[in-house]
Amino acid sequence: MLKPSLDVTQKITSVVKRKYKNVAESLEHQFRYPTGKDGLQGLQYPQELIEWLPEEVAQWYCGVGNPFSLSEIRSGDHVLDMGCGAGIDTLIAAKLAEPEGSSIGVDFSEDMIRRAQSNKELAGVENVSFQVVDGTELPFIDEQFDVVTTNAMLNLAVDKESVLTEAYRVLKSGGRLHVSDQILVGAAMCSEQAMDCWFK
Ligand SMILES: C[S@@+](CC[C@H](N)C(=O)[O-])C[C@H]1O[C@@H](n2cnc3c(N)ncnc32)[C@H](O)[C@@H]1O
Repeated sequence: MLKPSLDVTQKITSVVKRKYKNVAESLEHQFRYPTGKDGLQGLQYPQELIEWLPEEVAQWYCGVGNPFSLSEIRSGDHVLDMGCGAGIDTLIAAKLAEPEGSSIGVDFSEDMIRRAQSNKELAGVENVSFQVVDGTELPFIDEQFDVVTTNAMLNLAVDKESVLTEAYRVLKSGGRLHVSDQILVGAAMCSEQAMDCWFK
């Protein structure tokens, strides 16, 4: 796989972090697809899980698919959510993995992790934790998780190969990888202009 230069990686990463600093404050006018509860409903998350989430937590959802439709999270599973944002999928995974299982959400945006911590308090979920971590360098041992899930993060990661290599490293043999994302159809541009419209 072609690796982008350090310069391009740093530029795109700083644009992504700036965007998600704003998203952690408000989702208004930030996305072209439905977010919050509308997004969860449109993507057919189970109704009982949508109802279980407090409204003030669900409003922060900005995923593009339903990773739980790919395989079920079982009671006792240990789940890693990469690019967890405000932590909605991480909280849902923790709920499904109760009582012995747990979930960890990681994101490289400190602001999104602060939002996720606040959502954990609002949802009153105990078996979940959040950490500021870049998906290209996970601070976890090999084969720690039953499930690695990611929703709308891989498209933003410049070094997708490292993110996927890390996901496989921390996944138990026979574990499940859930990828929910959007892809670019057509040629990729590489210019300042392309960077400006990274999110559009
Ligand atoms: C569109 S949001 C999705 C958030 C969440 N998964 C959801 O479905 O609501 C993408 C998240 O990925 C995070 N992200 C992007 N690249 C990352 C990376 N290399 N490492 C960790 N997090 C990353 C961003 O900071 C952002 O919070």
